[in-house]
Amino acid sequence: MKIGKLDIDRPVILAPMEDVTDRAFRQLCKRHGADIVYTEFVSAEALRRGIEKTVRKLKADPVERPLAVQIFGSTVESMVEAAVIAEEFQPDYLDINFGCPTKKVAGKGAGAALLKEPEKMAAIAEAVVKAVRLPVTAKTRIGWDHESINILDVLRRLEDAGIQALALHGRTRSDMYKGKADWGWIAEAKRHARIPLIANGDVWSPEDALRMFLETGADGVMIGRGSIGNPFIFSGTKHLLKTGTPPPPPDFRLRIKAAIEHLQLSVEFKGEKYGTLEMRRHYATYLKGLPKVSVVRNKLVREEDWRAVESILLEYREECEGYAREGRIREHAEYLNDHSDKLVLNYKASNTTI
Ligand SMILES: Cc1cc2nc3c(=O)[nH]c(=O)nc-3n(C[C@H](O)[C@H](O)[C@H](O)COP(=O)(O)O)c2cc1C
Repeated sequence: MKIGKLDIDRPVILAPMEDVTDRAFRQLCKRHGADIVYTEFVSAEALRRGIEKTVRKLKADPVERPLAVQIFGSTVESMVEAAVIAEEFQPDYLDINFGCPTKKVAGKGAGAALLKEPEKMAAIAEAVVKAVRLPVTAKTRIGWDHESINILDVLRRLEDAGIQALALHGRTRSDMYKGKADWGWIAEAKRHARIPLIANGDVWSPEDALRMFLETGADGVMIGRGSIGNPFIFSGTKHLLKTGTPPPPPDFRLRIKAAIEHLQLSVEFKGEKYGTLEMRRHYATYLKGLPKVSVVRNKLVREEDWRAVESILLEYREECEGYAREGRIREHAEYLNDHSDKLVLNYKASNTTI
C-alpha cells in the first residue's frame, strides 16, 4: 500500500481512538507490530485557538513512525488552518475524520455529518490537500443511514479532491456501533477505488484480520477496539499473514507484561500521578478472564503510586503461575471472543459512543 513515500505491504494499522491512542498506547502497539498508528482525532477549532491540551495531542516520537495525525472540523477555513499547524509536527500523513458519529462532532457539522454534504466534504478535502505538502487521507463510514448509503459517490469525490487513501468503517452513522460492520460495502468500495482502501470494523482477532483482507480485497486493515488490552493482535495478524498459521495465543505472562509496559509508558508521558490514574481503566481488559481478577483490580485502582501498581501486577503474575499449574487459566481465544461484556467499550461514558 502506497501513501506518499510510504510503501507497506498489507499494513495492519492502529485506528484513531479518542482517549485511547495517545503516545503511550501508540508506542505499545508499535512495539507489538502495528505498521501505522494514528493519533486521537484533534479538533481543528481547538487547534487554531491554540488550546494547549489539543496541541499536545500532536506530539509524537520518532519510534511511532509511520504515524498519521487525524483532524476533524466543519469548515474549510478551520480545517486548512489546522492542517497547516499539524504539518509542522511532521507526521507521515494527515488524515481527515469524516466518520465520527457523536453529538459533539457530527452534531456540529463535522465528522460523519459531512456524509450528508458530500460537496462540502470534498471542498474541505481539496482545500486541505492544497494547503499542505504532506499526503492527506480520509476516514469515513459507508453513509449517514441505511437509506442513504453513498460511499461510492463519496469515494469518487475524495479521489478527485486528491485524497491519497481512504479508511472505511463498514457502518453507517445511524448504526453507531450496533450490529456488525458490513464488509460487503467495503469490498464494493475497494472494487471501485483508484486509491488504497483500508478496511475497518469488527476485527477482534488475527483470524478476523486475515478474513477481512480476503473478503474485502482491501490494501490495509485497521484495528480499533480489538487492540485495547490486546496489542498482540498486530504481531499475531502479521504472523498469520506471513506463515498462514495462527499465532500462539498470548498467555497471562505476556498480558501482564504488556499492562506493565503500558503503565510505564503512561507514566513517562503523563507523569507519575496522571499516568497512574489514567491506567486504571485499562487493567480490566489486560486481565480479562484471568482467575480472581476482580480482587486484583480492586487493589490496582486504589493505588496511586505506579511502583506499587507494578508490584501488584508482578505479584498477581506469580499468583497466576500457581493457577496455571492447577489448570485454572482459560485460553486466550476463549475470553477474547467474549467481547459482549462491554469492557472494551467502556472507555467513554455511554453518551459519547463514537
Ligand atoms: C473509544 C473510541 C474512540 C474513537 N475515536 C475515534 C477518533 O478519534 N477518530 C476516528 O476516526 N474514529 C474513532 N473511533 C472509531 C474507530 O477508529 C473505528 O473506526 C471503530 O472503532 C471501528 O473499528 P473497530 O471495530 O476495530 O473498533 C473511536 C472508537 C472508539 C471505540
